[in-house]
Amino acid sequence: MFSRLIFLSVLCLFSEATSSLAQAPKKVMAPKSVSKLPAKGSVDFKVDSVLKLMTLEEKIGQLNLLTSDLDQTGASMRPQYKEDILKGKVGAIFNAYGVEYVRKLQKMAVEETRLKIPLIFGYDVIHGHRTIFPSPLGESCSWDLEAMETSARIAALEASSMGLDWTFAPMVDIARDPRWGRVMEGAGEDTYLGSLIAKARVKGFQGSSLSDPTRVMACAKHYAAYGAAQAGRDYSTVDMSDRTLRDVYLPPFKAAADAGSATFMTSFNELNGIPATANKYLMDQILRKEWGFKGFVVTDYTAIWELLFHGIAADSVEAVKKSILAGSDMDMQASMYMQRLPGLVKSGAVPVSVIDESVRRVLRKKFELGLFANPFIRMDAEREKKNVYTSAHLNMARQIAAKSMVLLKNDHNTLPLKLTAQKIALVGPLADAARDMMGSWSAAGEGEKNATLLTGLKGSLTSSQVEYKKGCEINDTVRAGFAEALKACANSDIVICAMGEGAWQSGEAASRSDIKLPGVQEEFLAEVKKLGKPVVLVLFNGRPLDLTNVLPNADAILEAWYPGTMAGWAVTDVLAGVVNPSAKLTMTFPRNVGQVPIYYNMKNTGRPYDANNKYTSKYLDVRNDPLFAFGYGLSYSTFLYSSPKLSAKSIGMKDTLNVTVNVKNTSTRHGEEIVQLYVQDMAGSVTRPINELKGFQKVMINSGETKTVVFKLTSNDLRFHNQDMNFVAEKGLFTVRVGGSSDATQSDEFELR
Ligand code: NOJ
Repeated sequence: MFSRLIFLSVLCLFSEATSSLAQAPKKVMAPKSVSKLPAKGSVDFKVDSVLKLMTLEEKIGQLNLLTSDLDQTGASMRPQYKEDILKGKVGAIFNAYGVEYVRKLQKMAVEETRLKIPLIFGYDVIHGHRTIFPSPLGESCSWDLEAMETSARIAALEASSMGLDWTFAPMVDIARDPRWGRVMEGAGEDTYLGSLIAKARVKGFQGSSLSDPTRVMACAKHYAAYGAAQAGRDYSTVDMSDRTLRDVYLPPFKAAADAGSATFMTSFNELNGIPATANKYLMDQILRKEWGFKGFVVTDYTAIWELLFHGIAADSVEAVKKSILAGSDMDMQASMYMQRLPGLVKSGAVPVSVIDESVRRVLRKKFELGLFANPFIRMDAEREKKNVYTSAHLNMARQIAAKSMVLLKNDHNTLPLKLTAQKIALVGPLADAARDMMGSWSAAGEGEKNATLLTGLKGSLTSSQVEYKKGCEINDTVRAGFAEALKACANSDIVICAMGEGAWQSGEAASRSDIKLPGVQEEFLAEVKKLGKPVVLVLFNGRPLDLTNVLPNADAILEAWYPGTMAGWAVTDVLAGVVNPSAKLTMTFPRNVGQVPIYYNMKNTGRPYDANNKYTSKYLDVRNDPLFAFGYGLSYSTFLYSSPKLSAKSIGMKDTLNVTVNVKNTSTRHGEEIVQLYVQDMAGSVTRPINELKGFQKVMINSGETKTVVFKLTSNDLRFHNQDMNFVAEKGLFTVRVGGSSDATQSDEFELR
């Protein structure tokens, strides 16, 4: 009911907006156009030359981002929408792609509007455009920055070949609560790793120049602290200390800004009482003044309108005033800037200089994207044919998917599969679910093109006989398929169960209060296990799940996430041992949902956990530690760590400490290991986390070989916001831990003096 009300109100707004905008500006300027722009001069000079030509309405038009109706109606166009473009009331369009279609829209802008200012075309290119890569959380488990930069580069190449200039990615929200469905879009719970991944993804999307026709402009989102939604419920309130904000949630955004992310998107949530879209502290103070960000900020979808529901604006006029004055430059889909800004400027409530500055920011990016020089720079039908689904892209998607899968359990070396004439029963609702393989936010992905596990197994394991029976659905309570599937299992040598969540069960507006396997999947797995066959569970899901009941019923568990277009091939590569798994979790898997939010870098409390003392910080019914810790993940190889050796027992503020560790591959297989370095600041002016990731290296270690890994630490790595909110390292004792997971125990200590 509530959402229906919002919907109707937004519709009313749109009609109000369009009728008021249908009137021509009173003082029409001489019809000069951007084609008469000075050929020389800096971008800022050119931007100002355009700005001088513009009426107030045209300026506000540049701040208006509208969705196309592509998704609903194919490439048809609403008459009103067309009229808005023709009148220069639209600065950018999203959800339109495909060269033929966007060319049509761009032609309208650059041939039929008074000033001929090109449009920017944006889209949610989150983990691939046509060729879909693993969901970002899954991909982050590769800890492979080069791979993540590559997948973003390929996504940019495909998207730009289909007419797009701008992606609404990367999503860099730190996420510590797996109930929140949007954890699948980001890089997990850790600030250090999340910052490196933010940088890699921005570089991958943008390359070194925005005018590169094979790249797209990035948009770091959702600014800020969206991942800390109370109770893991999407869009919910966020209330946190400035210290946590700055130490934990903001660094990935800062990393994205430093890497040159051309744009930022506000988040839907409020932060300490002020919704992000009207939050001057976030946009003006931190982003622009402290970090020197020069790009533009776009709101999230209708977020300006939502200020009324947050209850910080009495009406749309106040909502618009608060948003623009706080620093939201572009209005996504609310049409409220178009509707209300003219009046606000005329009344003097919003200085025209504020509008000018926002317009400058948008126009600057249009210049930098190369759109003024060639509005069709990313609209080449030949490139569109050539650059999408290339075999190079598909191969890379397969490789990256395989390196993103985390082996959670492998008792009795159940995996890899023995390829010699094993009879395999493949069961479970995700064994042949093509659409689900790419998860949420795979907007231009084509579900039917995804390889399922059934396809992969049948195509790869020629010597094996694979019998497939579904057994049950993802999310209902029907048990009718159990019997037939159990019969297939009984006739097999080994059972592979493909289970998890449907693609729709994570992503936006997909919070879950219960994070177990949905439907009757747990029950079905328990029945399979009773047959006494070796059971391999392959999981496809967007978030960490509660696997407590599942764990005893599977001999091996492979967390495959949503692997994307090449899902079935990549999973098969890992199951068959063609690829030795090397991924490590970037989000903690809890024992049950009551433990969340749960993350490895918690604080110690004054009464740390003691199993024998009731009056310590713990639960009566579950342990404190997780089922699978951050950084955890098995390999078909086994590794032995030496204890870390420090180059000094004490270092000064300007010194470098070397932490050296030897890692031996004690197995008969070559394998990659992600060697992790953690530090604990033992006493500070404010309480400090029990562990913080400060470095990692992914190393290939041959069977029997020992590799020496050296980490370098300086006082810069030890900084945090101290009691006076200064970002500093404090003198004192630090514990260093090195290992293959955040629960590593091999340690040593040093002093910072
Ligand atoms: C809403 C989502 O929160 C955001 O991530 C996305 O980019 C926009 N819609 C546009 O689709």
